Amino acid sequence: MRLKDKVAIVTGGARGIGKAISELFAKEGATVVIWDLLEEGEETAQGIQLEGGKAEFQRISVTDMASVQKAVEGIAEKYGKIDILINNAGITRDRTLLKMSEEEWQSVIDVNLKGVFNCTKSVVPHMKTNGYGRIVTAASNVALRGNFGQTNYAATKAAVIAMAKTWTLEFGRYGITSNCVAPGFTLTEMTAAIPKEHLVNVKDTIPLRIVADPIDIAYGYLYLASDEARFVSGICLTIDGGWAR
Ligand SMILES: NC(=O)c1ccc[n+]([C@@H]2O[C@H](COP(=O)([O-])OP(=O)(O)OC[C@H]3O[C@@H](n4cnc5c(N)ncnc54)[C@H](O)[C@@H]3O)[C@@H](O)[C@H]2O)c1
Repeated sequence: MRLKDKVAIVTGGARGIGKAISELFAKEGATVVIWDLLEEGEETAQGIQLEGGKAEFQRISVTDMASVQKAVEGIAEKYGKIDILINNAGITRDRTLLKMSEEEWQSVIDVNLKGVFNCTKSVVPHMKTNGYGRIVTAASNVALRGNFGQTNYAATKAAVIAMAKTWTLEFGRYGITSNCVAPGFTLTEMTAAIPKEHLVNVKDTIPLRIVADPIDIAYGYLYLASDEARFVSGICLTIDGGWAR
């Protein structure tokens, strides 16, 4: 029970990596509040409850500061604290730069970057009051090397690594750690949307010759969210089979 009695918010927790994080954290004793746009989040929360875990779903867009703030206040009041924030919600709108529309650029910035700003800014005052916090944000291995067709996405994922380092400096003295996880190719609905012809030979580019399941990534989040990582802050933990060396 590595997260016994902890209260965690997992953004984008309805499916994919966020769902695996939510399930694993609940198994480890946390009360998990899943934020997502998709009503699937309700099923994810119910699935956790059926297994004896504690979870609830709230339909929230991380892009909407007012509703994020309101939800954070509600959670703090209901549970008395917020220990862990997992900034996992993310989207792609892939296109090479010359074909990328402003809308495609902006929508990725709004979710992957402003969403992280909104959630972290709203949650940190509660962590400060409590003298404890674990913030873990979804970067990506493409932040470290760039990726064809991902100007918008790679920019946001590199930016959150710098934000995590900045928050280490700003909040470290309050017992709050701030880190990133940089997943590599993981089998989720996000990667299922990539055209098949772009995926031929994908395994050959990964030194371990496998792709990740969401749980492989969730274990990294668990470590960074646990008490065991109390001396770890400002890092980006790459979990990608050795792709971004
Ligand atoms: N799958 C991969 O290969 C991979 C690799 C590197 C990084 N990542 C990152 O990991 C995170 C999870 O990815 P995934 O593969 O599980 O994706 P996914 O698309 O399966 O899940 C993302 C979840 O975020 C939710 N979401 C999107 N916009 C939202 C918003 N405005 N407010 C609240 N929730 C919102 C979606 O509804 C969805 O449930 C993302 O940040 C992604 O960029 C994924």
